[in-house]
Amino acid sequence: MVADDIPGVVALQRLCFPPPFRVDQLWTVEHLTSHLGIFAPGQFVAIDEGTILGSASAALVCEQVWNEHRSWEGTLVSFYLEGHDPTGTTLYGADISVHPLSRGKGVGRALYHARFNLVQKLGIARFGTGCRLPGLKASGLDPEVYISQVQANDRTDLTLTPLLRYGLTLHGVIENYMNDEESLNCAALLSYERS
Ligand SMILES: CC(C)(COP(=O)(O)OP(=O)(O)OC[C@H]1O[C@@H](n2cnc3c(N)ncnc32)[C@H](O)[C@@H]1OP(=O)(O)O)[C@@H](O)C(=O)NCCC(=O)NCCS
Repeated sequence: MVADDIPGVVALQRLCFPPPFRVDQLWTVEHLTSHLGIFAPGQFVAIDEGTILGSASAALVCEQVWNEHRSWEGTLVSFYLEGHDPTGTTLYGADISVHPLSRGKGVGRALYHARFNLVQKLGIARFGTGCRLPGLKASGLDPEVYISQVQANDRTDLTLTPLLRYGLTLHGVIENYMNDEESLNCAALLSYERS
């Protein structure tokens, strides 16, 4: 991602996180400008002939922060990614989004490959993230039962299913992760350890 990509990323956010996801939790120009200033190598976009099809934002966090499996804000501190620690050993995914009309074509996988390549290049321990569970509320299931069923391919989740296909390892549920009605404020804790 470079500064010229920012307006396209802001527009993409509104399409990728529709209500009931809260508008005040979407990236603004100021947030994304801060991300580029703090840690440009961790910010990616997918572009097709000048059109932004996807974006992925991340910061580095230290072992203690990673091991405590905190909430989104407890990990990243703010929407400006002020929790970024240049000496951190986990590349922590803040978000990923692909345009609704471009899904299922490998754009998310390409963004994840870029993240995994960065982990290798930096020689750090892992990539980690908390993954939304947009089908959880509608399922009526306990979060642990829900993620087990998604992992077993007994049901699909718009977000968790693709992320498991990328080879991320599922560790469990973090409750009170972020304001996210569809996910009952829960997230699945995922990681990719450097080989
Ligand atoms: C999650 C997201 C980024 C995935 O991006 P994508 O470009 O559609 O994913 P890909 O095309 O790379 O798909 C990867 C795999 O997941 C599968 N997949 C994708 N969407 C799926 C769905 N809705 N149901 C079942 N499988 C799905 C694909 O078939 C593919 O599997 P394969 O490679 O084994 O054939 C995208 O759906 C998205 O933007 N979601 C909304 C925003 C969001 O919730 N972001 C996550 C914040 S934590």
